[in-house]
Amino acid sequence: MTSYSELGLVNTKELFKKALAGGYAIPAYNFNNMEQLQGIIQACVETKSPVILQVSSGARKYANRNILRNMARGAVEYAHELGVDIPVVLHLDHGNGLELSKDCIESGVSSVMIDGSHLPYEENVALTKSVCEFAHSRKDYVSVEGELGVLAGMEDEVSSEHSHYTAPGEVIDFVGKTGVDSLAISIGTSHGRTKFKPEQCTRDANGVLIPPPLRFDILEEIEKKIPGFPIVLHGASSVPMEYVRMIEQFGGKMKDSVGIPEEQLRRAAKSAVCKINIDSDARLAMTALIRKVLTEKPEEFDPRNILGPARDELKKLYMHKNQNVLGSAGNA
Ligand code: G3H
Ligand code: 13P
Ligand code: ZN
Repeated sequence: MTSYSELGLVNTKELFKKALAGGYAIPAYNFNNMEQLQGIIQACVETKSPVILQVSSGARKYANRNILRNMARGAVEYAHELGVDIPVVLHLDHGNGLELSKDCIESGVSSVMIDGSHLPYEENVALTKSVCEFAHSRKDYVSVEGELGVLAGMEDEVSSEHSHYTAPGEVIDFVGKTGVDSLAISIGTSHGRTKFKPEQCTRDANGVLIPPPLRFDILEEIEKKIPGFPIVLHGASSVPMEYVRMIEQFGGKMKDSVGIPEEQLRRAAKSAVCKINIDSDARLAMTALIRKVLTEKPEEFDPRNILGPARDELKKLYMHKNQNVLGSAGNA
């Protein structure tokens, strides 16, 4: 059994308090491999940003929980070696039950999400409460994120055919009964790179899809019900067209890609939204650069020369997010 403080990690409590007061959001970046993790740490050190490293069930299957835990320890040491001790959280993304949460907590995560959003309300409350009771009773307090409302979109382990917005009328009861430390809400973001169907969007002069705006009215109602309570946005990739085009230029197919515009995320980050989840944008950046190298250098077969440029691009992407979208830069 490992407790997260032994790994040099922190929970989200203090980070969210500061983010709420400072009008910015902490980046929550998913990782599955070394190059992604290096890109995240290099960017967060260089921009002096706190960071939440997210592992999904899919990441645990792909990379192994012991490897991921030790990578997080390595990330803390790597940041120190680079010269800035940034706060690092290791977070379970979209946990689906008490057993998985316990397993993650006992192997060193400092924060878990329990995603009961697809369950009937009372079942979501009961499941989330059971995870909070376990997580909060540890010697090192583990923070818990719950979710109300259902996001659209498809991922390997996260999928939903029917989305619905968070009902502001439920949030006081949910937060009170469960004891969660933060609440993920549904206000129009969505998982993956095709966040909206083309028929839900308009198109600009170049034929690029323009998505419907986020429901800031629902966010404001929620903020009025639970003032100062940390809110989380999932599905917050912007799906940069430069990467979509690069992937297509080098043989990929990325039809109907559309994300959340950066200025809307910036606006959200200034509110009670203090954690913003980004995965798809990093997948796009990595795929774009790998395709470019493989196409332009057909004789290349050293993985370091194939993945290295992708890692550099990830660093650039994460620095941009921290500095210009989330506003977390300078807040380590
Ligand atoms: O929201 C889900 C994350 O993007 C993780 O995706 O389950 O394919 O690892 P994954
Ligand atoms: P994106 O697919 O928009 O990157 O969302 C990631 C996410 O919500 C991880 O939990
Ligand atoms: Zn998510």
